[in-house]
Amino acid sequence: MNKILVTGGAGFIGSHTCVELLNSGYDVVIMDNLCNSKEAAIGRIEKITGKKVKFYKADICDFDSCCKIFEENEIDSVIHFAGLKAVGESVRIPVEYYSNNITGTLELIKAMKKYGCKKIVFSSSATVYGMNNKAPYTEDMPTSATNPYGYTKVMIEQILRDICVSDDSFSAVALRYFNPIGAHSSGLIGEDPNGIPNNLVPYIAQVAIGKLECLSVYGDDYDTPDGTGVRDYIHVCDLARGHVDAVKYASEHTGFEAVNLGTGKGSSVLEVADAYGKACGKPIARKIAPRRAGDIATSFADASKAARLFNWQAKADINQMCADSWNFTKNNPDGIK
Ligand code: NAD
Ligand code: UD1
Repeated sequence: MNKILVTGGAGFIGSHTCVELLNSGYDVVIMDNLCNSKEAAIGRIEKITGKKVKFYKADICDFDSCCKIFEENEIDSVIHFAGLKAVGESVRIPVEYYSNNITGTLELIKAMKKYGCKKIVFSSSATVYGMNNKAPYTEDMPTSATNPYGYTKVMIEQILRDICVSDDSFSAVALRYFNPIGAHSSGLIGEDPNGIPNNLVPYIAQVAIGKLECLSVYGDDYDTPDGTGVRDYIHVCDLARGHVDAVKYASEHTGFEAVNLGTGKGSSVLEVADAYGKACGKPIARKIAPRRAGDIATSFADASKAARLFNWQAKADINQMCADSWNFTKNNPDGIK
């Protein structure tokens, strides 16, 4: 039995993971309330793979909706992407973030327990390394957060750890993503943020397509080779492949594991802007702006645990990531419709 429930499967990382799952022979059921995605993404997943997906427009906070899906489908494992993810917004509306991300996860897990489903792969984030660790980050470092979004990740990891302690037949893998960018090579699915993007590459993409004028580089006085922030950007298709490997791992092992998914290599803001300029054929206009509150100088993964546990390694470099992001952006100037 190889049926996977993908919560948040219409979203950026979820849609790419559904493609990878379908191409690897899994059946996929998507549950998404479409609060940050479009139903059209489901059709695009089917178009890329030539396979059918069962879609439920439903909210993970609703226990009965979760149960209905387990009732109607024999779900083997869950990959849990559904959640709100904007750091700044989480500071403004923390109750919505705690309610959606934490209550939602608890309702989903209650339904899993009711139907005897004991395998979950969860979208965590490098944000759990907080401000006090030094890169490269290893999974045994203490976790912390500086905003409600980050706390939801720290807390959900703890909830999953506790469940595994209480039930030694449960298996949970928390994947700590570094900075996912890029898009599927078909140009049919990619990142489609609402409003003005907060994250670097979606912002650059809108400068490249002419919707925004100029990139503000948040600080050039960090202790990094060119003074701008360094991050571990990872191609979303490499990340998606990591989920297929994690599902397999969870089906063969019990207990809790936190695993970094990153390349192990950092790129600066200026390096990313230059790579994107090469990809789209014109330089990305930029100006130096003050540092953004809450940013750190350098973040990149020690990715050796994923190599050891899953035999997984990221393949794409920053040029490929920018080329695929640009291919999606120019084919979908107004996002996924
Ligand atoms: P996304 O917003 O594109 O996808 C999340 C999906 O979940 C959306 O389709 C949204 O409609 C859905 N959703 C949200 N709340 C829901 C609910 N209550 N019920 C049902 N569906 C709901 O985001 P993404 O970039 O694909 O991120 C997926 C996961 O990975 C999130 O949990 C995010 O926090 C985590 N993550 C993302 C990044 C990143 O940079 N993109 C980094 C680290 C971790
Ligand atoms: C941010 C979040 C993090 C979250 C991640 C994925 C903050 C402080 N951190 O990570 O919690 O998990 O997104 O959603 O919000 N930059 C610019 N100009 C821009 C945008 C970004 O110079 O317009 C710089 C930033 O200062 C940083 C780098 O680009 O050095 C990457 O920024 P971003 O894409 O927002 O990711 P993170 O800050 O790593």
